[in-house]
Amino acid sequence: DKGGHRHFMAKEIYEQPEVIGHTLSSFIDPITSKVRLPGKGIDFRGIDRLTMSACGTAYFAGLIAKYWFEEWARLPVEIDIASELRYRHVPYPEKGVALFISQSGETADTLAALRDAREHGQTIAALVNVPESTIAREADALFPTHAGPEIGVASTKAFTCQLASLAAVAIAAGVQRGHLDEKEEKRLVEGLLGMPRHMSEALAMAGEVEAIAADLAKARDVLYLGRGISFPMALEGALKLKEISYIHAEGYAAGELKHGPIALIDENVPVIVVAPDDALFDKTISNMHEVMARGGKCMLISSEKGIRAAGRSGDLWASLAVPECDPLLAPLLYAIPIQLLAYHTAVAKGTDVDQPRNLAKSVTVE
Ligand code: F6R
Repeated sequence: DKGGHRHFMAKEIYEQPEVIGHTLSSFIDPITSKVRLPGKGIDFRGIDRLTMSACGTAYFAGLIAKYWFEEWARLPVEIDIASELRYRHVPYPEKGVALFISQSGETADTLAALRDAREHGQTIAALVNVPESTIAREADALFPTHAGPEIGVASTKAFTCQLASLAAVAIAAGVQRGHLDEKEEKRLVEGLLGMPRHMSEALAMAGEVEAIAADLAKARDVLYLGRGISFPMALEGALKLKEISYIHAEGYAAGELKHGPIALIDENVPVIVVAPDDALFDKTISNMHEVMARGGKCMLISSEKGIRAAGRSGDLWASLAVPECDPLLAPLLYAIPIQLLAYHTAVAKGTDVDQPRNLAKSVTVE
């Protein structure tokens, strides 16, 4: 049942405010507004490093969470894609913790990386959407996301539910390790609880996105740029676009542009700049202006204030305004325009949105 939508992917994009609410309710005490880890939880106090691993979109959720663990818990994070981590000779810390992220809970490489970490004495935490799955069963501590069944092959609501849960876990780690006081915890929790409302507001831009997508559908190559916590969002934007629209897309750290990829810039390569109004905003915008100076057509995804501050907005090919929020929580919100853009571009191209060629929902082979 597509709930009146043309595709499961659209239904799942629109479900996000609701399922983020469900997911957060298992991590946040409604009375005290404090984070409370489900099940046995994890003790983050005695460890000096957290290992994380996953594949694809779930890996990007982990990359984003790395910024949270560093910022809120001062906890160093080692993260790699599972198909790499499992073959590396990782010098695991004694009595360390390893966290694996998976929507399906059946991804072969993620499972193999988990088993390798267990063999090396790590306590295993799993953030999984299917509670009966193998990865969920093999974990010492299970952090469930409550995205509900995700049918579209491209991950949307599972991704943002992973982000919401990871944010809660990182806040809990910050409180346990004494780096977040009650006031900060409350501020962050309130920021998270405000996300469903902000996401609903962001979903209202679908019409605007559709018009831009009609143009984007003509591109052969697209670049996504982001800096800091928006860098993984650039990677996710590129993955989402390529997997369902078959347009070649790459995500880059904005600061890496001049180290190679700027050679690709001409009027035929749209550049999508993910730049929430944060401490790195000016840096990213100056990279965007470098692209524009070379004839590149840029689209800016930012807050209304950010779009105004970027100046020369008349020279922009397009812009999308997202509601303002805590800059560190921006990925949850910026996921919406990124998903809508990939979705409408694929629809404009007439590809099989829910079942893209060569892809399976659950990758149980290596
Ligand atoms: C992309 C996508 C994939 C999955 C990856 C991991 O939209 O869906 O990249 O994220 O195959 O799958 P899970 O999370 O089931 O381990």
